[in-house]
Amino acid sequence: MKIDILSLFPEMFEGFVNTSIIKRAIDAHLVEVHIHDFREFSNNKHKKVDDYPYGGGQGMVLMCQPILDCLKSIVTSESLVILMSPQGRTLNQTYSQELSLEKHLIIICGHYEGFDERIRDYVDVELSIGDYVLTGGELASMVVCDSIIRLIEGSIKEESHEDDSFSSGLLEYPQYTRPFEYDGNTVPDVLMSGHHENIRKWRLKQSLLKTYRKRPDLLIKKELNEEEQKILQEIKEND
Ligand code: ADE
Repeated sequence: MKIDILSLFPEMFEGFVNTSIIKRAIDAHLVEVHIHDFREFSNNKHKKVDDYPYGGGQGMVLMCQPILDCLKSIVTSESLVILMSPQGRTLNQTYSQELSLEKHLIIICGHYEGFDERIRDYVDVELSIGDYVLTGGELASMVVCDSIIRLIEGSIKEESHEDDSFSSGLLEYPQYTRPFEYDGNTVPDVLMSGHHENIRKWRLKQSLLKTYRKRPDLLIKKELNEEEQKILQEIKEND
């Protein structure tokens, strides 16, 4: 996969592309990440990228020319063009999984007050990471890229994300590591038993319990199989 990011602040991405799993995925050629400073595409002698809004109002608006010239220099028929914006559809795990199968993503990050509306004509998807407003799309684009890159085959062990919260429509079960006892709290016995089927059942029950208590809205959307329905019924009866 190739990801091109258009931003006025390329330096914000340095830590992101040079750390941990993202760096490993880039080094292993599973993904290419290129950051483009669209200010460089400005026709203006002062490299201006924004201007006052027609009709008046607070703040500046990003102009079409620098962003769209930058976009036109890299877009192909295989590109999916994403505009980071709080007005977009909200990212979730299912959509991250879909995006992780794309060949080429182009992600446009705005900054300041907003974009000239006509930029939206060149965009396939407007994407938000939640109902709050950031100073720019950079952090949001990193969230999107992080959630996608870890899902690319070979990035992390497949089993590492099979049980992720949301992958199955449920929150992930509790995890423990050494020591066996911490501050008087011990690890549940079943995890020490080596009995794989009992561990699977316990984890499923814990996933359902966590989801029921913390995110009951997820249970409304999920189609439960017979085993899950039975366990959830028990949880409700004992609650
Ligand atoms: N830009 C500013 N706020 C944003 C958000 N919540 N999601 C995506 N892009 C943004």
